Amino acid sequence: LKQKSIDSGNGFKVGSVDIPGRAFLAPMSGVSDLPFRKLALRFGASMVVSEMLACREYVHGGKNARKRAEKTGSGPHMVQIAGNEAYWMGEAAKVAEAEGADIIDINMGCPAKKVTSGYSGSALMRDLDHAITLIEATVQAVKVPVTLKMRLGWDDETINAPELAKRAEDAGIQMITVHGRTRCQFYKGKADWQAIAEVRKATGLPFIANGDVTKPEDAASIIKQTGADAVMIGRGSYGKPWLPGQAADYLVNGFYRQAPEGKDFMKLILEHYEHMLQHYGIETGLRNARKHLGWYMETAEEMGIFVDQTMKKQIMTSSEPQFVKALISQAFDSAQIEAA
Ligand SMILES: Cc1cc2nc3c(=O)[nH]c(=O)nc-3n(C[C@H](O)[C@H](O)[C@H](O)COP(=O)(O)O)c2cc1C
Repeated sequence: LKQKSIDSGNGFKVGSVDIPGRAFLAPMSGVSDLPFRKLALRFGASMVVSEMLACREYVHGGKNARKRAEKTGSGPHMVQIAGNEAYWMGEAAKVAEAEGADIIDINMGCPAKKVTSGYSGSALMRDLDHAITLIEATVQAVKVPVTLKMRLGWDDETINAPELAKRAEDAGIQMITVHGRTRCQFYKGKADWQAIAEVRKATGLPFIANGDVTKPEDAASIIKQTGADAVMIGRGSYGKPWLPGQAADYLVNGFYRQAPEGKDFMKLILEHYEHMLQHYGIETGLRNARKHLGWYMETAEEMGIFVDQTMKKQIMTSSEPQFVKALISQAFDSAQIEAA
């Protein structure tokens, strides 16, 4: 299962940090945890980002936050922080730097009510002066590059990403990622790549385009349409941890390695499952692994491997890891027999 990018050249720099290619795995709370980030890297993702960390909890040594910030051990370590108080942003950035972050990303894109009601995440796009004070505090706190991830604005009437990008650049930000939706869109509708291009024009910083990339060819299209330096892939990698790596290869070579099939795919699922149980412990690991198993079964269906409903339900609900693993193996074995 050793996968490596066909050619990981053609990267770029963020400050003094070398980014070895042009397709990133997006930060996704509850999804892009350490096991998933490691998988994406193994398949050639150019870069991965930690799940968002709430600044105060992180500084106070919250176990959950620390776990989210763990290093993958290969490539630049990019840690994302979220908050709305300059002091805590600076403190969190210092902790991240001390623990080995090569890049610190600020989240101004999260639309979740839990986050925006505390005026963090995308709520900061409603008050750019305050957003800039948070950026300045973070930039001043650390030596490593600080980067910013944002949406297009709060709603259709207040598209202010170009203005925020420009002001953020003046405040010392060194890379910008834009998800082509407003906060009020949440994840609905289509990401507006043209609007991302407008933000690109507002800044000379390294620039990442994000939203609705679901195949390697989309990565080339979004870069062409927006003028971005690189692409970030989120939901498209559900059940497909190889997608950012394929996109990175496609951008360099115009072709990419096929996804693992049959037994290789089964081994990958089992390995990911095992790693999740180790990472979180059995009880939490089992719970957190279920969504990945569900996505893997959807991917299997796209590949023509159909898992029957009863088996699927057992895989998704059983609290007995050995049984789940046996069912996964059985699902693939019976699919092979049917295909033969
Ligand atoms: C389940 C989930 C969790 C997310 N968590 C974060 C997060 O922690 N930090 C962040 O900046 N964006 C987060 N996002 C947004 C993604 O990084 C990305 O911007 C968005 O999904 C659009 O990209 P996509 O169309 O490729 O999924 C999350 C998205 C999803 C679906």
